[in-house]
Amino acid sequence: MDVKEKHKWYNVRWFKRMAPVYDYIEFLVSSLRKKVANKIKDKNSKILDLACGTGNQSIAFAKRGFSVVGIDLSPDMLRYANKKIKSSYKLKFIYGDATKIDYKNSTFDASSISFGLHDMPEEIGLMILKEMIRTTKKNGQIIIVDYHKPRNKMIAWIGFRIAKLWESKYYDHFMNVGLERYLKAVNLKPLNKETHLLGNMQIVECKNIK
Ligand SMILES: C[S@@+](CC[C@H](N)C(=O)[O-])C[C@H]1O[C@@H](n2cnc3c(N)ncnc32)[C@H](O)[C@@H]1O
Repeated sequence: MDVKEKHKWYNVRWFKRMAPVYDYIEFLVSSLRKKVANKIKDKNSKILDLACGTGNQSIAFAKRGFSVVGIDLSPDMLRYANKKIKSSYKLKFIYGDATKIDYKNSTFDASSISFGLHDMPEEIGLMILKEMIRTTKKNGQIIIVDYHKPRNKMIAWIGFRIAKLWESKYYDHFMNVGLERYLKAVNLKPLNKETHLLGNMQIVECKNIK
């Protein structure tokens, strides 16, 4: 089995267990969903949300009237996402591997991945970021939301221990190396970085210079 197949095998099983309880911790991050959606200014934007899970970030985009495609590798997570679709939304969820998606170059005005990169091998995360670069238009926004290590060591330790209660086996690696390493590897330069929840979460906005 190669890294993609191994990850798919693990991911499907892991999120089968997580899907029924995943939205219980949504209250922690619901304010971030709106902040991310508000970063897209053009109301005609077409947005790609990779590793969309139960769809909360995609829904936040759709509520603002954007046209949205969410893609995820877990049928169980998508089952919950699909229940949230309203007829007024221009939104669809697709089952698939975000390392290779079925859209042409420069299809989307903006793309996002939220709380996805810490949940997969680094190699897979880099492939997904490259797909975001490929399918997002030149100068379009690429927005990444994920955990962040706070400067304060005590807060960092508490945040890490709490997240470890539910996080997958890939979380430790992501926290050790940090998002910066991923962005550097694919040559994405942050335009803006905000931290939230005492520095435990980050929203990083990049411009797709290609
Ligand atoms: C922690 S959840 C995040 C869900 C959602 N983006 C959010 O913000 O709540 C991580 C998601 O990444 C998805 N995922 C992992 N590897 C993937 C891949 N190669 N392609 C698409 N989705 C993937 C998982 O199925 C899971 O739904």
